[in-house]
Amino acid sequence: MVKGFSKFTKEEKILWLAENYFQQKDKGIATLHQYLNDDAVLQQLHDEFIENTISNFYVPYAIAPNFLINGKTYTIPMAIEESSVVAAAALTAKFWSDKGGFKAEVISTVKIGQIHFTYKGNKAKLKAYFLKMKPLLYKATDEITANMRKRGGGISAIELRDCTQELQDYYQLHVSFETGDSMGANFINSCLEAIANAFKMEDISIVMSILSNYVPDCLVRAEVSCKLEAFFPEDAELYAKKFVQAVEIANVEPYRAVTHNKGIMNGIDAVVLATGNDFRAVAAGAHAYAAKDGQYRSLTHAKIEDGYFRFWIEIPLSLGTVGGLTKLHPLAKLSMEILQNPKAEELMQIVAVAGLAQNFAALRALTTTGIQQGHMKMHLMNILNQLEANLHEKDLICKEFKGKTVTHSAVATSLHKLRTSQ
Ligand code: MEV
Repeated sequence: MVKGFSKFTKEEKILWLAENYFQQKDKGIATLHQYLNDDAVLQQLHDEFIENTISNFYVPYAIAPNFLINGKTYTIPMAIEESSVVAAAALTAKFWSDKGGFKAEVISTVKIGQIHFTYKGNKAKLKAYFLKMKPLLYKATDEITANMRKRGGGISAIELRDCTQELQDYYQLHVSFETGDSMGANFINSCLEAIANAFKMEDISIVMSILSNYVPDCLVRAEVSCKLEAFFPEDAELYAKKFVQAVEIANVEPYRAVTHNKGIMNGIDAVVLATGNDFRAVAAGAHAYAAKDGQYRSLTHAKIEDGYFRFWIEIPLSLGTVGGLTKLHPLAKLSMEILQNPKAEELMQIVAVAGLAQNFAALRALTTTGIQQGHMKMHLMNILNQLEANLHEKDLICKEFKGKTVTHSAVATSLHKLRTSQ
């Protein structure tokens, strides 16, 4: 146990860590230092995002160009460590670019916050108290919501909900918000605390006030469609049918649905992270939405209709293009610039498209060649790095494995052969 750790300087923290945990102290310390930025101001910015920062943890930052969305071309920035995700996005973007591209629309933008409280008294009395207080609850947030109201946002509804069937004496104030171009977490939480404060009385015990990351009414839809014959070079109908079946399987089989949706989140989280948004919130909300009817299902849908293949996603996304890290993290700011400084609704559309594209690439591979061919091709570099191959060896092995199945042992054998033959 360590006392007053947060008060240690960064170097003291690193030293404490090295002394207590590292087998090779100097090497560990050197690695941490290696990942610190030379620019002291930039490093300090990152240090101050969180507590006890000792270094930076890199994730590759990449771009997937050629996304045509609602007639506009985008290059999408992605931050992700998984080998094949960006390649899959770029390939899918290209595939759809000459078939009309992606169409996307925002269906709704409502966000929710709740004040959870208990009350043992008479229900009618509570209802009367709520109705009397309601205008004052709005008033209590006047100062906090002033700027947001100027931008067309604010509190759109406050409801009293009786949840005593689920839990004894449990009620909530269920509050709906519009938060414009910000994700709105701080705004919502500040409003809720002000409302809870105004609502408090002797018989009411406030348990907590917090936004919900479940945002089924902050919904976006993205889709692609093409003539059946354009779907695949040979036997388009067979492969389109298999694709639709793969989506149907994910819709009825939770084991498959989780992996199917994980693939969607590969694309979504990468863009959410690259734009400085909260990917944990987005993931939690998306998975909850996938289970909205009581069974966990696919977030995407597909059908063949009138000779057309259609594929779409409907997903709740609470995103911001102002506030949070979106402008504070220099790379997040740059991501926004790459995306041509979208408003939040446009970003919702782009992110939904990134998810749909990723699912398209995965299902197309799974229902044709299988996933490993493309995946292992991208993973080849990771294997070579693990085996500490030099540039020359990498070049030769990559050439050797062009068009061949990549496995860890096959690569290791080839590298060994190469090394022993020299
Ligand atoms: C891997 O990260 C994602 C996939 O498993 C998704 C899927 O199976 O649909 C390829």
